[in-house]
Amino acid sequence: MSKEEVEAVEEVLESCPRERRHLIRILQAIQEKLGYLPEDALREVALFFGISPAEVYGVATFYNQFRFVPLGKFHIVVCMGTACHSMGGALVLDAFQRELGIKVGEVTPDRKYSLERVGCIGCCTQAPVVVVNGRIFPKMTPYKVEEVLAKLKAEDELGGDKEQG
Ligand code: FES
Repeated sequence: MSKEEVEAVEEVLESCPRERRHLIRILQAIQEKLGYLPEDALREVALFFGISPAEVYGVATFYNQFRFVPLGKFHIVVCMGTACHSMGGALVLDAFQRELGIKVGEVTPDRKYSLERVGCIGCCTQAPVVVVNGRIFPKMTPYKVEEVLAKLKAEDELGGDKEQG
């Protein structure tokens, strides 16, 4: 972990009672700060609670809300809630997987793009919806996937990562 990541993990642990029942909440808080759960962080959490790293890892992998690799520079979230799904969200997701050559939950080898699917994000009137680093792309189609990726690539080449949140 980087120095910043170590400090972030320490900050989370310091703010929490040393009780095993807080394990999930701590893992959530670390992921919120770092975007993922590094192996070293899982070890720190195990030390903090006095349990084995295998137990922490077992709990973390049981819940699919946790990620174990850092997000890409552009984190693409495809909504698969009922409205988005019925308006073709799965086709949009497939198009991203095909164009990026990764599956949901993965990151491209150059660490530029990561892909995730979520339930309803509350903008059903704009279905199907995609969110990239907090920016909403409404009424998506497989064709628009190419446009979005071209736009992100252009921003990346310009050094634009101001959308990163
Ligand atoms: S189902 Fe996608 S925004 Fe509601």
